[in-house]
Amino acid sequence: MNVKLTKLKPFGLLVEPVEVNTVITSVNKEYVERLIDTEHLVVLRGFKSFRDSDDFVSYCEEFSAISVWPFGKVLELVVHETPKDHIFDNSYIPLHWDGMYRSQVPATQVFHCVSAPGKEHRGGTTFVNTKQVLEKLPENYVSSLSDISCTYTRKMEYYDSKTQAPLITKHPDKEYDVIRYCEPPTSNDASFINHPGFELSGVPKEDTTQFVEGLNAILYADDNLYTHRWETGDVVFSDNHTLLHGRESFTKGAPRHIRRVQLLGKKPLDNPHLIYTK
Ligand SMILES: [Fe+2]
Repeated sequence: MNVKLTKLKPFGLLVEPVEVNTVITSVNKEYVERLIDTEHLVVLRGFKSFRDSDDFVSYCEEFSAISVWPFGKVLELVVHETPKDHIFDNSYIPLHWDGMYRSQVPATQVFHCVSAPGKEHRGGTTFVNTKQVLEKLPENYVSSLSDISCTYTRKMEYYDSKTQAPLITKHPDKEYDVIRYCEPPTSNDASFINHPGFELSGVPKEDTTQFVEGLNAILYADDNLYTHRWETGDVVFSDNHTLLHGRESFTKGAPRHIRRVQLLGKKPLDNPHLIYTK
């Protein structure tokens, strides 16, 4: 296995083949798992990858069981003609963690870029390494966050759920703390389809806007946020328990098509924050 490694900023690792026509399966699975563990975001670029969706699923199943949705194992992230939810629109997607509204929380996402939107059209996937954020923040600020929790409600085609999570919680398998936060979309943004419900506890009601703006400024700071600008064929692994992720808006009509699979991991996590899902 002959690969070139490049550190991404402010976190993550880019893995590229040295020789042309290197197939993605030649990158050892245990090696990829070790990189996810240490880097939290791993981008495989320039490899020969998958013929189709089934081929992508077979590759992912080598890693762990996959989360199954009403639509199956692969989410096709493409713009719908008349979207009922922001996921299928070209709008931005607020930072969140996957599985927050489902009965199990996946350990890792695997994305495959079937068609990149084109760099000039944006549409990057945004990632924040919350372990790194907490390590850098002043201790008194972190301790001021530790009594705060958020309640989220969201109804869409695949679920109708309520979740309540402390802002700071321990990683389910590791000894470090992470941030669990689903950023509320700007309340006066009429173009954002299907606003989720959001309530903060531990912050006086009149201070909610200021608190959210302050937290968002930290998460979106250049030294905390990595925006992955897609190239066709990219395969990206992201550590869902440590990172938050979202999406930039993109040009309507740009040919963006990303496939996403969620790996449940070696020890599937029953969602500790879910109040109900129906
Ligand atoms: Fe997501």
